[in-house]
Amino acid sequence: MNILLATEKPFAREAVEGIRSIIGEGLVEGTLSDITPQTQGLIVRSDKVTREIVEKATNLKIVVRAGAGYDNVDLAACTQRGIVVMNTPGQNSNAVAELALGMMIFMARNGFTPGTGTELKGKTLGIHAYGNVGRLVAALGRGFGMRVVAYDPFVDNSDGSVEWVGSVEELYSVSNYLSLHIPATAETRGSIGYDLLMSMPKGATLINTARKEVVDEQGLVRAFGERDDLKYATDVAPDTDLSQFGKRFFATAKKMGAETAEANVNAGLAAARQIVGFFETGEIKFKVN
Ligand code: 3PG
Repeated sequence: MNILLATEKPFAREAVEGIRSIIGEGLVEGTLSDITPQTQGLIVRSDKVTREIVEKATNLKIVVRAGAGYDNVDLAACTQRGIVVMNTPGQNSNAVAELALGMMIFMARNGFTPGTGTELKGKTLGIHAYGNVGRLVAALGRGFGMRVVAYDPFVDNSDGSVEWVGSVEELYSVSNYLSLHIPATAETRGSIGYDLLMSMPKGATLINTARKEVVDEQGLVRAFGERDDLKYATDVAPDTDLSQFGKRFFATAKKMGAETAEANVNAGLAAARQIVGFFETGEIKFKVN
């Protein structure tokens, strides 16, 4: 096997060691520009796997995105070349969920600067998309004494594990904190904007540990201009300069949701095992194309 572990967005050292122990001799650590016609498999975080890269690797059979969102991989280019693309769902979710709660506290306590803050207890936490991360955020929110409500058109809530609302509009209208967990797709890009923000309760906070593309930033600027009580914390720095909103806005310097040793180990080792399973037995359980 000739497997490239792309490390522009690096994996924790212990994750690399674990990946090497699963893949063995054939593991090459490098950047995406090190891809060659000999490369058969690729493990990557959120670095962009473009058509150009895919076309350079004429023997590439599989790309595993060590993480959940695979919007960084040119799926069409891979599919056209018969390359299997997989993700590792759930493996880094806990790290992202913990950050979402951390951001809520940070915003509730004035960005950890002096002044009177508020508590999460008793507030309503809306979960927009009830997948792996959303479920964990719900559990953590309950631990803080929050009322948790959720909406996800693609999930069956028949297990009744959370209070369900009937629409996106209803979700935003009742949420003091709204935690975003939708992927960036053609349907979701720019879907969170002026109307939904304006419908939120007084003092509401939007928490984005998903993707910047899902927020309509111009709509957000307009809503924030009209309502000085709204807040936005994001782990995915926006394209628009929002510094005019002072402490009502916070962005991490670099996306850090999955930036824990545990998440790197979980996702990296899962990716390595999926590659070995693919080459040894044709296993394609987590194929996304
Ligand atoms: C994901 O989609 O898994 C998260 O956004 C984490 O991405 P990262 O590996 O680039 O940190």
